[in-house]
Amino acid sequence: EMIKLDITKAACFLKEGAVESFEPKVAEAQKALEAGTCPGNDFLGWLHLPSSITPAFLDELQACADTLRANCDAIVVAGIGGSYLGARAVIEALSNAFSWLVNDPKNPTILFAGNNIGEDYLFELTEYLKGKKFGVINISKSGTTTETALTFRLLKKQCEAQRGKEEAKKVIVAVTDAKKGAARTCADKEGYKSFIIPDNVGGRFSVLTPVGLLPIACAGFSIKDLVAGAQEMEKACAPTVPFAENPAAQYAAVRNGLYQSGKKIEIMVNFQPKLHFFSEWWKQLYGESEGKDGKGIFPASVDFTTDLHSMGQWIQEGERTIFETVISVEEPEKKLLFPNDEENLDGLNFLAGKRVDEVNKMAELGTQLAHVDGGVPNMRISVPKLNEYYIGQLIYFFEIACGISGNVLGVNPFNQPGVEAYKKNMFALLDKPGYEAESAAIKARLAK
Ligand code: PA5
Repeated sequence: EMIKLDITKAACFLKEGAVESFEPKVAEAQKALEAGTCPGNDFLGWLHLPSSITPAFLDELQACADTLRANCDAIVVAGIGGSYLGARAVIEALSNAFSWLVNDPKNPTILFAGNNIGEDYLFELTEYLKGKKFGVINISKSGTTTETALTFRLLKKQCEAQRGKEEAKKVIVAVTDAKKGAARTCADKEGYKSFIIPDNVGGRFSVLTPVGLLPIACAGFSIKDLVAGAQEMEKACAPTVPFAENPAAQYAAVRNGLYQSGKKIEIMVNFQPKLHFFSEWWKQLYGESEGKDGKGIFPASVDFTTDLHSMGQWIQEGERTIFETVISVEEPEKKLLFPNDEENLDGLNFLAGKRVDEVNKMAELGTQLAHVDGGVPNMRISVPKLNEYYIGQLIYFFEIACGISGNVLGVNPFNQPGVEAYKKNMFALLDKPGYEAESAAIKARLAK
């Protein structure tokens, strides 16, 4: 079975034939991706990644994860951006919503760090880890990202202090470049187990490399099923699949059509709070890929029904520059029936005997009708269940659709020159060696 994309309630906002009119451009983008002739063609390693992952490689990752799981009560996944969001998206989508409060002897607690510079966050993290058997996965392609490197130094010292240097080596793993960067130098010098992030896979396309796969396996989820789902989607979105049947081609066409018609913001919607971080992953994927050269849809996200009580007003009646893409999970994993109550003080007996999900589904349908009536085009992706296999499908679907969509938009979807600007200023302000001229310039500018 496959996830399904329904574009009918979005296409109806466009002129007749508008979606089909993108077919030549989409085909050209697909061809350029396959042939490696598009802009950013040195970053196409993700394109056939699912079908190129071998069972032996998955076994190696699993073995490393098993060592960490056997030796740790908590595992800190240190990384930011593309070296963070994919793992968190998958782990949170699949985990018990309260796993961080439950002391599960079978599964280590997975914690995320290296994705901010909050002093309180880091203090509280190190405090939480005191006396705990914890391990660290240090994930950084460049191996020099400030947020992650700073966090890793703190955690490495604490891990060594608590477990001794030799034991610490067993539970610290690096995921980084094959040769470059401080994370590689440190891993080689200390003798940590390490995995390579391929040169030709950019951060936001790296969830199906050890960047995502190792933490996901550490959390106890099946990376085999995840990859199997991605492989299935690789086939379903191949350039040989006709435009009308190719979900990635359709999604790329519709969102570009909507963008050209003035819909500048795409809101990723879920009705399952576990998908919050999946939207965060998606926002980076599309935001960093398309937001450049003064162009690009702004990717936003909401969690419904929660945010119907906050952002719902704006979406229903604000500026008509938005469209929605809804991820709808058909079947929850667990079953909860709403009970009858003899007194019926809350007046909710009309729901008695129904599954909670039935209420959620009616909220979803009601919302779709209301938003479409309110002028918000709506695409819907239905997912049979939240499991590794379908999440693997979703991941590859959004990646390939992003590659196509960015090419149709006419940008290089695989670079991110804009993320350097803040770093340059921060390093200058912190007097980082090598930034002397920039430091003098920025200080003079601020003194004016
Ligand atoms: O996609 C990107 O380029 C960024 O989000 C990076 O993934 C992020 O900055 C982390 O970089 P690195 O893996 O080099 O530490």
